[in-house]
Amino acid sequence: MKFFVDTAEVDQIAELNDLGMVDGVTTNPSLIMKSGRDILEVTKEIAAMVDGPVSAEVVATEADDMIAEGRKLAQIAENIAVKVPLTWAGLKACKTLSDEGNMVNVTLCFSANQALLAAKAGATFISPFIGRLDDINLDGMELIADIRQIYDNYGYDTQILAASIRTVNHAYQSAMIGADVMTAPPKVIKQMAEHVLTDKGLEAFMADWAKTGQKIL
Ligand code: E4P
Repeated sequence: MKFFVDTAEVDQIAELNDLGMVDGVTTNPSLIMKSGRDILEVTKEIAAMVDGPVSAEVVATEADDMIAEGRKLAQIAENIAVKVPLTWAGLKACKTLSDEGNMVNVTLCFSANQALLAAKAGATFISPFIGRLDDINLDGMELIADIRQIYDNYGYDTQILAASIRTVNHAYQSAMIGADVMTAPPKVIKQMAEHVLTDKGLEAFMADWAKTGQKIL
């Protein structure tokens, strides 16, 4: 499973990138706002740092304007994936931008039918938002499973990018279902290393080691 980091915080991306945990990065207008950085500048910096796709989102709502913004964002670097929302205009922009050879990430996907349309419009990635469905008491994981089934039924090569991941359980379930990629905040990726029995076991080993009076170095 590929890991994308869902942030525009360069230092946090760098830390995970050094560990080989970063196959790509996703940003959105809210994450750019939180970073306090200029979108073109920070996206360029991130794209130079990581080898994989870096999603940069358009903010226009009409197809022609989305296409113009997408072309500009795509010029930042070769590894930019233009992110467009799953609206009818967004699907039009997806088709044009992908026909022009750009990677396109179709975002704000909340239904399997939307994901089917994105695949037909040539999306490189489809981003179903798990956490936001859970927020309204719907099952985000069911959506990932449905999209997996539909894409496999018909052999679409659009990659399922499990997004809006808020917990380690979301990450685990997305991997079990077979999402191609997950994008998660750095905090969640780090939490995946944690287990209460690891902490307890380490504590016991340290206590016993202290009793030996030995040193390795
Ligand atoms: C990623 O592409 C999405 O923009 C992001 O995962 C949304 O996450 P949120 O629902 O926690 O804001």
